[in-house]
Amino acid sequence: MRNPIDLFTPIKIGPFELRNRIIMSPMTRLRADEACVPTEMMVRYYTERATAGLIITEGTHPSPLGRGYTYCPGLHNAEQAAGWRKVTDALHEAGGRIFVQLMHAGRVSHSSLLPGRALPVAPSAVRLSGLVHTFSGKVLFETPRALETEEIPQVVEEYRRSAELAVAAGFDGVEIHAATGYLPNQFLVTSSNRRTDAYGGPVEGRARFLLEVVEAVASVRGADRVGVKIAPASPSTRWRTTTRPRRSHTSPARSPPSDSRTSTSDTIPATAGAVPCRASSRST
Ligand SMILES: Cc1cc2nc3c(=O)[nH]c(=O)nc-3n(C[C@H](O)[C@H](O)[C@H](O)COP(=O)(O)O)c2cc1C
Repeated sequence: MRNPIDLFTPIKIGPFELRNRIIMSPMTRLRADEACVPTEMMVRYYTERATAGLIITEGTHPSPLGRGYTYCPGLHNAEQAAGWRKVTDALHEAGGRIFVQLMHAGRVSHSSLLPGRALPVAPSAVRLSGLVHTFSGKVLFETPRALETEEIPQVVEEYRRSAELAVAAGFDGVEIHAATGYLPNQFLVTSSNRRTDAYGGPVEGRARFLLEVVEAVASVRGADRVGVKIAPASPSTRWRTTTRPRRSHTSPARSPPSDSRTSTSDTIPATAGAVPCRASSRST
C-alpha cells in the first residue's frame, strides 16, 4: 500500500514553498465596506487562518462593473489595495501566503450595485432566472447588456490593472475565477455566449476572453503566480439561463424563498440604499 500523503508536510508549487498542503478555498464572506474596501474584520478572519499552506481570498472584483454582491471586496482602486495590504501584511507576519481571487460577476449582478445604475455586462443579452441579493433585498436578475467587441480589450485591461494592484496590495499571486457562472465562464459556455464575433462560436472563440485575461494577468508578474479556477458544471444549478421571452419580470418562474426582504420587482428606486462602489480613478 502506498504511503498516505501527510497534509502537514511542506510542498513546492511554482516559486512557493508552502509549509503544508492545505489550501483554503475562496469563500465570499461579504464583510467589506460599502466602497468594497476590506475591513478590520477581514484582516482578523484571514490572519486567523494563516497556518494554511496557501489562502485564496474570496471573489474580488477587478473593476466597478465586475461587482456582483453587496459588501464584497474590490481591487480596482488605491483605497481597496490599501485595505487588502492590511490583510496581506498581517498574514505574512503570521507566516502565511495568500492569492487574491479576481472575480468579475458579469451578468450575476444588478444595476443597483453598479456605477450609474449601469446594466450588468455579459457576452450576450441572456438573463439568468432566479434572484440576486441587493441592498434592498432579493430581486430578479436583469437582462445584461452584451459587451461590444471593441469593449472587450478594456475589460481585459481592467484585469491587468487589478493584477498590478494585487502587487501593490502585497498578494503572493492571483487566481482568475473562470467557474460557476461568472464572466469568464459566461464566455466559455454556449448557454450564455451567443456571440457571432471572435469571442463566440467554437470553443476557440469562447475561450478567447479567458485566455486574453490569463495573458494579461500573467504579464504583470509571471505565469507561475497565476491560477485559473475552472469547473465542468456551469452555471450552477441555482442560476439557470432564461430562454423564455420576458413575459413578466414581476412574476418569478418559481416561488421566491420565504424571506421577508425578498422583492419580486426587478427595479429598485435610486434612493433605496444602493451604494455602487466607486470607479477607479486609475490610482496606483
Ligand atoms: C460560503 C461560500 C462562499 C464561496 N465563495 C466562493 C468564491 O468567492 N469564489 C469561488 O471560486 N468559490 C467560492 N465558493 C466555492 C468554494 O470555493 C468551493 O469551490 C466549494 O465550496 C466546493 O468545494 P469542494 O470542491 O472542495 O467541495 C464558496 C463556497 C462557499 C460555501
